[in-house]
Amino acid sequence: MVSDPWQILVTGGAGFIGSNFIRMVLAERPNYSVVNLDALTYAGNLESLADCVHNPKYQFIQGDIRDSAVVERALAGCDAVVNFAAESHVDRSICDSGPFVSTNVTGTQVLLDACRRMDKCPRFLHIGTDEVYGDLPLDRPDLLFTENTPLCPSSPYKAAADLLVLAYHHTFGFPGIITRCSNNFGPFQFPEKVIPLFITNLIDGKRVPLYGDGLNVRDWIHVQDHCEAVLLTLEKGELGQVYNVGGCNEWSNRALTDMLLDCMDYDEKMIEPVADRLGHDRRYAIDASKIQNELGWTPQHSAWPTGLTKTVEWYRQHETWWRPLKMQS
Ligand SMILES: NC(=O)c1ccc[n+]([C@@H]2O[C@H](COP(=O)([O-])OP(=O)(O)OC[C@H]3O[C@@H](n4cnc5c(N)ncnc54)[C@H](O)[C@@H]3O)[C@@H](O)[C@H]2O)c1
Repeated sequence: MVSDPWQILVTGGAGFIGSNFIRMVLAERPNYSVVNLDALTYAGNLESLADCVHNPKYQFIQGDIRDSAVVERALAGCDAVVNFAAESHVDRSICDSGPFVSTNVTGTQVLLDACRRMDKCPRFLHIGTDEVYGDLPLDRPDLLFTENTPLCPSSPYKAAADLLVLAYHHTFGFPGIITRCSNNFGPFQFPEKVIPLFITNLIDGKRVPLYGDGLNVRDWIHVQDHCEAVLLTLEKGELGQVYNVGGCNEWSNRALTDMLLDCMDYDEKMIEPVADRLGHDRRYAIDASKIQNELGWTPQHSAWPTGLTKTVEWYRQHETWWRPLKMQS
């Protein structure tokens, strides 16, 4: 653990993973302080941090990472940056890639340049995704994404931002690191994403829309495991490196759906088959051995059915959090 009293700028801290990360840092690192810079798009929700607002180590700034003046103000005094701010729903990127390129790529570039202008450039952890690798065939379970797998994204989402971070490290010695994580689940996830969408539909007795043949496979990780990997990488990761993060927890969408139906006492009549997503990647699977071997991280909370059952319980107990969001999504 780093013993210096770090001030961390967390961008996108009002979103799903960012809010879980801030809560974890405030609880586990009492000598750190956190500045949360978030534009509060439809996906940003300060209710997710209601228990943190009175913490003297926490400060919120509403602002856009594409606005260099706001970014410079938020960066003042910061020793490190974790960049979660993004348009994050792949389906939306297929309908309209503009906001994705603008926030995820240009926004990252604005952050990088603002950091470089500081007297002491902060350590910069960019939150990436396994989605940048494209997909793996279903009939080759032996294949996994490693950090050396070429980038081959299927959707116009955010791979270019990773390349900017690596280029800045190469050319300017910029202190950047990237994590690339698989699909997250857990508390405070906006109910447009598949797991909270399905859980909240079933709580309301509504059917769940299953894409295509349902055989697409994802490696699911609990958000707490992801946040622990992020904090560890921020503190101990080697500059200029990429670290894959995965839950070792591969399931097809159909298997995920069956598990949720079973857990919530429904049967397959609640499945509503819908047309597949365009360019829907068949399988993502992460080789996380680098972060495990070099930094000593392992997922502790991701395995199913336990991780999923606890998540169902969380949504059952937090209707006041998700109901207003469900109405707007
Ligand atoms: N959710 C996953 O399964 C997953 C998996 C791997 C990687 N990631 C990555 O982690 C990051 C966070 O994902 P998430 O699921 O928490 O997303 P999210 O959509 O829940 O949160 C994104 C946050 O960013 C904020 N934001 C959006 N545009 C902004 C801008 N221009 N300026 C400032 N703030 C802005 C939003 O208000 C929101 O609070 C993303 O980069 C995503 O690609 C997510």
